[in-house]
Amino acid sequence: MNGVVLISGGGSNLQSIIDNAEKINLSIQCVVSNRPDVYGLERSAKANIPSCILDHKLFKSRRDFDQALMSVIDEHQPDIVILAGFMRILTDEFINKYQGRMLNIHPSLLPKYPGLNTHQQAIDASDTLHGASVHFVTKTLDGGPVIAQKKVKINPEESAETLAAKVLKQEHVLYPEVIHWYTQGRLKLLDATTATLDGQVI
Ligand code: GAR
Repeated sequence: MNGVVLISGGGSNLQSIIDNAEKINLSIQCVVSNRPDVYGLERSAKANIPSCILDHKLFKSRRDFDQALMSVIDEHQPDIVILAGFMRILTDEFINKYQGRMLNIHPSLLPKYPGLNTHQQAIDASDTLHGASVHFVTKTLDGGPVIAQKKVKINPEESAETLAAKVLKQEHVLYPEVIHWYTQGRLKLLDATTATLDGQVI
């Protein structure tokens, strides 16, 4: 299957997807970043994957940015759009277009802690478990149906930084696995609140 990966930063999830691409039957057609000078762009260059920078600061509205992003994505006719640390809120028009073939990874055990600063929130709430979730993207921010999660323990002396590193390690295992389910045709979005794996509601 052909995929386009959207990033905003270091791209360690992108790297895990690149490293597993052959195994999970994914051909990454293009990496798009909304920020120039991020390390994720170097990762795509090293892997000989074309990349594109669409600096959101150069667009006068969210809608204009999303229109440009749709044009770039559609040049590649992807079967799957993969958000890998892409830190932009998307317009409904954008989401409608790719709903059912767009996945996101989020650093919390959703539905806990959508949005930002998830690791600190989990520590502040004295949670003992934290983790990462992969979900289909729908119009509710970080609210589409969860497909799979990985958990980590929060130690008493944990900082947001140590916790983030532990969660990222799990993300790198989780995301390629879920993408593989998708490329195998095992994963479907039935409606905005329901996903299935092998025909069974998740
Ligand atoms: C990851 O922890 C990812 O889950 C998170 O950003 C980080 C990106 O790291 N995504 C979100 O918070 C999306 N709401 P990476 O650039 O090294 O893959």
